[in-house]
Amino acid sequence: MPDWEALYQEGDTGWDRGEVSPALHQYLEAGVFEGVKSVLIPGCGRGYEVVELAKRGFDVTALDLAPSAIAHLQKVLKEKGAQAETACVDIFAYDKPQAFDVVYEQTCLCAIDPSQRQAYADVVYDWLKPSGKLLLNMMQTGDAGGPPFHCDFMDMKALFSSDKWIWQAQPPLMITRGQGRVSPRFELGYILEKKEVNHA
Ligand SMILES: C[S@@+](CC[C@H](N)C(=O)[O-])C[C@H]1O[C@@H](n2cnc3c(N)ncnc32)[C@H](O)[C@@H]1O
Repeated sequence: MPDWEALYQEGDTGWDRGEVSPALHQYLEAGVFEGVKSVLIPGCGRGYEVVELAKRGFDVTALDLAPSAIAHLQKVLKEKGAQAETACVDIFAYDKPQAFDVVYEQTCLCAIDPSQRQAYADVVYDWLKPSGKLLLNMMQTGDAGGPPFHCDFMDMKALFSSDKWIWQAQPPLMITRGQGRVSPRFELGYILEKKEVNHA
């Protein structure tokens, strides 16, 4: 897997939009964040979405293992007078202080090795409150290797399976790389709700 910190230090960050993902604006406009207080953003990178949500008053927690990404985010938060919890940590080692209303998953899943996907789905489930929402922005590359690793729809349906998740029925968001940027890669945005599993 890549040395993410080295990529940030070398400026080799082709995934970085340099601005808030259009998906976040669409989720906000659609009312997906109504009633939400706490949001977790794993693999937040430079964290444009962290700053946007923090400025809007949400309790945001942002995780990334690359110190440069977290340092950049902390600097911008300070400049904007916004507050968020930030942690420079491997998501698989993160010890959550409380469960969250929303997990905003933007191109973190596609960055981790497919052999770790089930572990990732398990931690996401654990991070959320009952009926919490996962905003799952699935990278579409059509390529065999990675990262970014292609998030095939049927693979995602199996990973976030119906015994634990409700996939909301509306059509997915089509998330492009942003105005003026041409890329064959895009993301499909789905809203999933955590189901309570009855262990009785
Ligand atoms: C494709 S980038 C996406 C960054 C950001 N979400 C964005 O859209 O610009 C993937 C990010 O996940 C981080 N990452 C990869 N594996 C991670 C792990 N196991 N724990 C925490 N962060 C990780 C990388 O450092 C990188 O910032």
